[in-house]
Amino acid sequence: MITILAIESSCDETSASVCRDGVILSNVIATQAVHEQYGGVVPELASRAHMQNIVPVVDEALKKAGIEKTELSAVAFTQAPGLIGSLLVGAQFAKSLSLALDIPLIAVHHMQAHVLANLIPEEKPSFPFLCLTVSGGHTQIVLCESATQMKVLGETIDDAAGEAFDKTAKLLGLPYPGGPLIDKYAQLGNPDRFKFPEPQIPELNFSFSGLKTSILYFLRNAGTSLVYKEEFLASEEQQRQFIAENLNDICASVQQRIISILLNKLKKASQQTGIKQICLAGGVSANSGLRKAFTEMGEKYHWKTFIPSFEYCTDNAGMIAITGYHKFLANDFASLSVQPSARAEW
Ligand code: KG4
Ligand code: ZN
Repeated sequence: MITILAIESSCDETSASVCRDGVILSNVIATQAVHEQYGGVVPELASRAHMQNIVPVVDEALKKAGIEKTELSAVAFTQAPGLIGSLLVGAQFAKSLSLALDIPLIAVHHMQAHVLANLIPEEKPSFPFLCLTVSGGHTQIVLCESATQMKVLGETIDDAAGEAFDKTAKLLGLPYPGGPLIDKYAQLGNPDRFKFPEPQIPELNFSFSGLKTSILYFLRNAGTSLVYKEEFLASEEQQRQFIAENLNDICASVQQRIISILLNKLKKASQQTGIKQICLAGGVSANSGLRKAFTEMGEKYHWKTFIPSFEYCTDNAGMIAITGYHKFLANDFASLSVQPSARAEW
């Protein structure tokens, strides 16, 4: 029996999970509310909150799974990428446990773990599969040849899809993280009301910074133009009123454009590779519009589609645990000298 304890602390979620032979027994997530008032994650506050949370979160994950520390086969942790101070908390904790219990240590790449969250449910994709990973920091199309072999086929050249959601929300005066709120308002709006441009980016890469600029100009002109024209500048009061009166339609229209940018590239990737087993992953795959459009596209092109359940889309240790399990099977262990890293090559 292989029993893995996994720890995720790359950003603003402290999470621990226990997995036994590839089955997740517990997945405890402590979300840090402290950042809401700042409109984004404050790294120093995140590290402190991880230090406060890590012991109770790990204890709860073990308790929920009904597992004693002495039953653990290995401890896995998120090594990269992420906020360095946050990663250090999880890494040091995992190393200490590995040393104290004399069990192997497994270093996990956060983005690979997002992809492998698709191996958690009973019905899993078969290899090779494609995965569109959309999170607050990344937007990638990954070719997954096996649980330990992955290749990035395309990625964003500027903002991530989650950032596009969060920055749009900020322009609309909504609190951080704005993605879930845009999702909520979009469900009540008309997605065809406002037309935002789709960037022409080569290959399988993405860009979202142009969209952000066009939204900014659109709001500054209170909806009369997507182009920045000084003479059309609306007053702040006019902008606020325009947003208040059209919030649902703006959210629906922006969300529709973000989704079409993502799915058009995914369609291209499937055509180029001939692969029809296709997964979603990452925090933005919690978006209800994206889930629906992805499923519909799958039906149209005869794909077999997979989306992790909500709790395994946003940052969680369950995905670190399943990745740790596959690394255990592949004998891929880390030494105690392994260091966390803010950026990480694949
Ligand atoms: O994967 P994740 O939890 O953290 C990172 O590794 O970045 O993704 C967080 C991102 C945030 O940008 C958040 O706004 C976005 O996922 N997000 C959503 C939704 N839920 C989370 N974006 C759009 N619609 C949602 N329902
Ligand atoms: Zn993530």
